[in-house]
Amino acid sequence: MENNIILTGDRPTGPLHLGHYVGSLSNRVRLQNTGKYIPFVMIADLQALTDNAENPAKIRQNILEVALDYLAAGLEPDKTTMFVQSHITALTELPMYYANLVTMSRLERNPTIKNEIKLRGFERNLPVGFMTYPISQAADITAFRAKYVPVGDDQLPMLEQAREIVSAFNRIYKCDVLVEPEAILPDNSSCTRLVGTDGNAKMSKSLGNCIYLKDDEKTVKQKIMSMYTDPEHININDPGHVDGNAVFAYLDAFSNKRHFEEYLPEYQSLDEMKKHYMRGGLGDMKCKKFLNNVMQEMLRPIRERREEYAKDKGEVLNMLKKGTDHAQEVSLETLALVRRAIGVDYFNDEDFIEEFTK
Ligand code: TRP
Repeated sequence: MENNIILTGDRPTGPLHLGHYVGSLSNRVRLQNTGKYIPFVMIADLQALTDNAENPAKIRQNILEVALDYLAAGLEPDKTTMFVQSHITALTELPMYYANLVTMSRLERNPTIKNEIKLRGFERNLPVGFMTYPISQAADITAFRAKYVPVGDDQLPMLEQAREIVSAFNRIYKCDVLVEPEAILPDNSSCTRLVGTDGNAKMSKSLGNCIYLKDDEKTVKQKIMSMYTDPEHININDPGHVDGNAVFAYLDAFSNKRHFEEYLPEYQSLDEMKKHYMRGGLGDMKCKKFLNNVMQEMLRPIRERREEYAKDKGEVLNMLKKGTDHAQEVSLETLALVRRAIGVDYFNDEDFIEEFTK
């Protein structure tokens, strides 16, 4: 049978933002709705603890926030299994086996890790758990024998690491228990990594440059109106730059032809609008107002669904519990196969028992 299992996750360090949405969440919803896949979506609280060990309250608070964001974005519990990482026992056991297949220098080469170490200002005080989270992430994916992982491009090094672990495992233990995963990136390349509202290369909670899925209309508008544009575009008639301009990066990611017909009919397309901006004569305010219309239209249904689900948080918690129970069951099957492949399944292994008792 063809493998059509999907797994992804998010760290519950805050509510989810537009970067999550365009990079991965919208893809998950789309894949879910094709009905062709078996999707698992994980709240990665163990991974969040790797750099928040002293602040578990933050993680705890955000479990429900992220679950609400999932439902708001359109994930449905009867189609997608949503679950909590820390309650899946295979996800603490598998990394122990996998860690022996990865060298220290390999971990040190991981560009995502390098960048995160820099961002967080870790030097030698790097928690061991943080350094090894790519191994844990390989466990997340392989525990469900997932073939597809919808992510933004910042996660590609994690997938590469996971594939290496899979191939080492299957080779060394002479089996085909683990499945090599593939990334599913957004079709629109401006979505693989959305810049922050300040123009910084990545939207990230710690940089304070995010638009959250749960932000109300007024907050979204304020964030858009104070977005980074082009510092050399001072007067309307100055020629402007669209590269590195956050407003245009967002328009690349979110606007379509219909938006122009509806909100800015004087341009046929984003290309035309960009040309005008680059020649001079198109003001930032007008661009931002257009972007605001586009964004509000997209975020409104998400926000409304979130409010609806937030009325019954007990039900959301139940949904997570059910998803977690199911995920536990599925991953225990993989764990049993892994133990068997390595040969540490002593008490169920007939050959071992025979040798031991002969
Ligand atoms: N590292 C991912 C992020 O920071 C979250 C994550 C944890 C994940 N486990 C995963 C993503 C497994 C994909 C697959 O966004």
